[in-house]
Amino acid sequence: MAKPKVYATHQLFDEARQILDDACEMQYWTNEERPPRDEVLRNMKDKEGLICLLTEKVNEEFLRAAPKLRIAANVAVGYDNIDVDACTRRGVVATNTPGVLDETTADFAWTLMMALARRLSEGEQLARSGNWKGWNLDQLCGTDIWGKTLGIVGFGRIGRAVARRALGFQMKVIYTDAVRAPADVAQSLNVEYRDMNTLLAESDFISIHVPLMPETRGLFDAPKFYRMKPTAFLINTARGPVVDEAALVAALDAKKIAGAALDVYENEPFIHPGLKRPNVVLAPHLASASLETRTKMAVIAAKNVIALFMGQMPPNMLNPTVLKKS
Ligand code: DGY
Repeated sequence: MAKPKVYATHQLFDEARQILDDACEMQYWTNEERPPRDEVLRNMKDKEGLICLLTEKVNEEFLRAAPKLRIAANVAVGYDNIDVDACTRRGVVATNTPGVLDETTADFAWTLMMALARRLSEGEQLARSGNWKGWNLDQLCGTDIWGKTLGIVGFGRIGRAVARRALGFQMKVIYTDAVRAPADVAQSLNVEYRDMNTLLAESDFISIHVPLMPETRGLFDAPKFYRMKPTAFLINTARGPVVDEAALVAALDAKKIAGAALDVYENEPFIHPGLKRPNVVLAPHLASASLETRTKMAVIAAKNVIALFMGQMPPNMLNPTVLKKS
């Protein structure tokens, strides 16, 4: 029997390839640079499966170019790059990779928070510059994290993993979310609910953990920054467009907030020039980037694809109605 033809827009990791290569006729994009859009679309003509990264837009145009497509497996938990409704209309299963990157991403939110508070980027630059004159009492004094108030915006798996780490830092943790955490979760993590405006006013550090949806696009806008403490810091490891970057730059210029640490940007890989300042820590979308976790993500995407072609329900379907209908 002919194997299903699957296109992967990245070469993935060996562990994922081992799963795919036996069962599918695989075509991998193996170049270092991203595949050009027209190259991807051309390759999709005869493919039944797709494994893609969050940098590929799976939209109407894409689906039109892929008439045989049955599954689009994203190697990411966020799936704002996939038009799930369009996939559903065309009977294409869409999947993501939830669960495996929560702790790694939470680690990185903390990495950014600590680097920001303790001015690590500035210190590293000084240490490497050859201009360091030695210890001094008031040199690069940052701000304490321990004992401060951490506000978590979006209290899903990653937000909760961030909160759990705060227990060791004797922080007060407050969160806001459309859905309240169950009482036992709130108790075990020692967190309290706040409405958004109260959280903005009370927090010393605010860490964003909401998905990008129409309701969260531009969530952090000028009025939000004006409600924050002038000593407060913003950390974003979720999605760039959740923060209005022009408004953030204006808030930093006006000293409405003390600083920010960003892993994600409105128009990646473009970074607003106004963000390239000492009190902003910048990372290139790395939060889930441990080898262990990225490998697990690729393996999950591979398993989603294989499941479908073996006549099973892929474990991480975003639009299960597609299979229920048929
Ligand atoms: C995701 O999975 O959505 C991250 O942004 C990349 O790991």
